Amino acid sequence: MKVLVTGGAGYIGSVAVDTLIASGYDVVVFDNLYMGHRSAINPAATFVHADLKDADVVLATMEEHRPEAIMHFASYSLVGESMTAPEKYLGENVSNALNLIDAAVKCGVQRFILSSTAALFGDPEKVPISESERLAPGNPYGESKFFIERMLHWYNKTHGLKFAALRYFNAAGGTDEKGEDHQPESHLIPLIIQVALGQRDEIKIFGDDYDTPDGTCIRDYIHVTDLASAHVLALEALADNDVLHYNLGNGSGFSVKQVIDTVREVTGHPVPATTVARRAGDPAILIADSQKIKSELGWDPKFPDVLDVVSTAWEWHKRHPEGYGD
Ligand code: UFG
Repeated sequence: MKVLVTGGAGYIGSVAVDTLIASGYDVVVFDNLYMGHRSAINPAATFVHADLKDADVVLATMEEHRPEAIMHFASYSLVGESMTAPEKYLGENVSNALNLIDAAVKCGVQRFILSSTAALFGDPEKVPISESERLAPGNPYGESKFFIERMLHWYNKTHGLKFAALRYFNAAGGTDEKGEDHQPESHLIPLIIQVALGQRDEIKIFGDDYDTPDGTCIRDYIHVTDLASAHVLALEALADNDVLHYNLGNGSGFSVKQVIDTVREVTGHPVPATTVARRAGDPAILIADSQKIKSELGWDPKFPDVLDVVSTAWEWHKRHPEGYGD
């Protein structure tokens, strides 16, 4: 089967491409390299260097390559940025997805997998968060993914496009070849690792006055290869299912301070930290209940322990202190 992967040069997308190729799929990567890296693209994939905002190019790519399925990773994905530049999220994220979904149905694509997010749930009423939790995004990033999930709902009703919406909690960790390299970096674990590598003086903790045991935000860190395996399972499950929604996490939460301590333990570096003001848009606690995908699709995360997740990230960053370099 041929799968078109948008964002296949990015952090999560590039690992999903590796997993698809290892599982025998043909892959076409569609990426504008805004955040992605050319050298992160698996050489066995066909690469189309183009932008989703160009609807004609999206349609022409689909007509040329005729994928049977799409995995849509490419999007702006920063909670903090979405609070200062909402137009990128409510505008481009949404209109780019519409270009892609519309071209997909025009070209007879049968299955669509969306990178959705825990940010759909805002400040949830109940944790761990199951798929039945109320959807109430607390920032424009989460809202953009909510719009796209609704778009898919209607394209399923009107055109029969089958889809899976996979709501990631906090993607983390690395593989032998792939790791997290954003320019500029804003994610917690790679930033702490930059301190351990001597590239940054300290880590700033964004608020210690949340309603959590140590006052810092709690997140559920899920390994990037476990996210990738969930994508392949969802892709296969769409053969017999119309619509799937799954929350993807390890089901255990770690505070910012606990993550800093974990990096200290893994690296042996003292990692100086200071507390600054809260970052707008951050919910206090996000922890997944992933029982549904485990029982329905047999998803079996290989990195349930945050220490292992951080260790794989550390190994990749030690080998690639400057990231991909492109
Ligand atoms: N944080 C700090 N200091 C930093 C960076 C982050 O204290 O320098 C804190 C944040 O405030 C947050 C936690 O560390 O509480 C994790 O922050 P990240 O920026 O690493 O990740 P987010 O939780 O903001 O968002 C990530 C993805 C989103 C996704 C979300 C789902 O970037 O796309 O996880 O939980 F929606």
